[in-house]
Amino acid sequence: MEIERILLRQEQLQTRIRELGAVLSADYAGKTPIFIGVLKGAVHFFTDLMLHYPHPCQYDFIGASSYGDGTQTSGQVRLTKDVMTDLRDRHVVIVEDILDTGLTLRFVTDWLRSKHPASLKLCVLLDKPERRRADISADYIGFTIPNEFVVGYGLDYQELYRNLPYIGVLKP
Ligand code: PRP
Repeated sequence: MEIERILLRQEQLQTRIRELGAVLSADYAGKTPIFIGVLKGAVHFFTDLMLHYPHPCQYDFIGASSYGDGTQTSGQVRLTKDVMTDLRDRHVVIVEDILDTGLTLRFVTDWLRSKHPASLKLCVLLDKPERRRADISADYIGFTIPNEFVVGYGLDYQELYRNLPYIGVLKP
């Protein structure tokens, strides 16, 4: 395994995700929000977070990819799957694994905002502000992390490591 060290253990992730679920539960009380997971990296965060949102809500998914096979973003974001739900006048929460350069979420938020939701918020498990290139910030953040290439819990390197139950730093 090419993991240099563990950055966030499974228990740390679960504790923080439970807290985020409680904050979202308070903020969206009585609103039936639509949570939109960004494939593929958000899969584990999305499912675990939703289990801590015990109120009426809907799910949808959008696919976006920009990293290809490397550790550097291509800068070109591709939409690989659009949402299936009519978002007009709905309260939308985008659920994403990591806000890094921000190019992916800049593209995704612009795309979803064009569908005229009543509100649009962004919930990310990891925020890596040092690398930001796009003008975007998250409304809900699990952890702010340093500028290292992380994998696990949905995050990949060359499509591998998504199934690690923790967030780890890849060996350079
Ligand atoms: C990763 C990650 C975010 C994005 C963040 O996706 O899941 O979507 O990069 O990086 P950025 O802020 O620099 O744009 P990737 O393109 O690797 O696709 P994936 O979710 O299918 O792994």
